Amino acid sequence: MLLGTEEDWPRAFEEILRRVGPVQGAGGTRYAFDCERITIEPFSLRDRPRYSLVIDRLAYWYYHPREWLKKVSLMDGVYLLNSPFTFQSMEKHAAYCAMMRLGLKVPETVLVPYKNPPDNARYAYTAARYNQPFDLDAIAMRIGYPLFMKPYDGGAWRGVSRISNPAELHAAYDQSGEMLMHLQKAIDYDVFARSLTIGAETMVMRFQPDQPMHLRYAVDHDFLSPQTGSEVVTIGRLVNSFFRWEFNSCETLVKGGEVYPIDYANACPDVALTSLHYYFPWAIRALVKWCAFVLVTGRRPKLDLETDRFFDVGDDPALTYQEKLEAYRQLADGYFEADRYQDFCATHLPHVDEIVLDWVAGPDFDRLLTDTVRSTYPAHEHDKFIAHLRGLLGLWVRDETARLRSA
Ligand SMILES: Nc1ncnc2c1ncn2[C@@H]1O[C@H](COP(=O)(O)OP(=O)(O)OP(=O)(O)O)[C@@H](O)[C@H]1O
Ligand SMILES: [Mg+2]
Repeated sequence: MLLGTEEDWPRAFEEILRRVGPVQGAGGTRYAFDCERITIEPFSLRDRPRYSLVIDRLAYWYYHPREWLKKVSLMDGVYLLNSPFTFQSMEKHAAYCAMMRLGLKVPETVLVPYKNPPDNARYAYTAARYNQPFDLDAIAMRIGYPLFMKPYDGGAWRGVSRISNPAELHAAYDQSGEMLMHLQKAIDYDVFARSLTIGAETMVMRFQPDQPMHLRYAVDHDFLSPQTGSEVVTIGRLVNSFFRWEFNSCETLVKGGEVYPIDYANACPDVALTSLHYYFPWAIRALVKWCAFVLVTGRRPKLDLETDRFFDVGDDPALTYQEKLEAYRQLADGYFEADRYQDFCATHLPHVDEIVLDWVAGPDFDRLLTDTVRSTYPAHEHDKFIAHLRGLLGLWVRDETARLRSA
């Protein structure tokens, strides 16, 4: 694990992996897993790494480990969640482009030039010679109000604003400074669905962006029709299989049965206990299972994107949107070996669900919960948040117990 400041899910992951113990592969070979937190140090490009798989949560902002990841990927075939090659070169903008070509309902989006010049001695000459003057109001009118202005590579709401009129448009653009901005048509959505995909598993959650962090994910199992839910799953897995991302969250806005994807390149998706709460055990379990599947079956990392397989579908004028989705789902499930993964979990990891349930219901998890609250919130809020999380995780324990009994 290549980590930044987080402590909650790594502790959970280490503990579940320890409790799961060795796993039997096909042919009876026993695989024991060792897991460690990678430290940052000088490395020769010819050093051999000790690792078969790395879960990366750091390289999106810290470049030394990012270059180490590239080295162990290219030279040593280490399996990465996620590949830095596409995650660092395919920001939101590139994902919009690819998904538009594939026929997804990405809202109308325009990229405008920098408000303030990039800091480069050649800028004045280049701009005088080549920058076209443009009419920001006309672009906004064409897209239509309300719209969103947001960085082409954004994250964490930095520089995001909702704009309803020309005055707000100019104020936001003036403030954008040296950030490169998209203007995007606002979708007046009924529900916001955020799906977290880990390997071949996806959890679609109702998201409430206007709420404080701890209330953003609502516990709601039936907020989408089965068909729309399946469309949201397909979109998340399509994005991931297209770019070879294995641990990513995808944001979609749903209005009247139509699904509009707006954000789907999260190199380090939120898996904090305090925000995922009820869904946290699912995330840790999926991560443990996917890593075990990859390592025991010897799944090989794939760096080449083979985009034509997707574009052949997207570019085919004879296919309807629905038919394209079905074809993408097949490609995605094929890439993630969805059936083989399910079989593997049933045959080789049948005990993992019980292990996770036992752990979440027990004192070790409660210690993790209280430690996490104490390190996240100010002292006067500890009791409130401990009770809040205990309530939600208690609900998960009840639901999961019922699910396993009926299975
Ligand atoms: N086209 C849109 N229509 C409606 N709402 C939008 C649109 N684009 C963005 N938003 C709103 O703005 C929020 C932030 O936008 P976006 O996800 O693109 O930025 P971000 O910086 O990646 O945020 P985060 O880190 O929370 O994902 C979204 O969660 C959503 O509530
Ligand atoms: Mg977002």
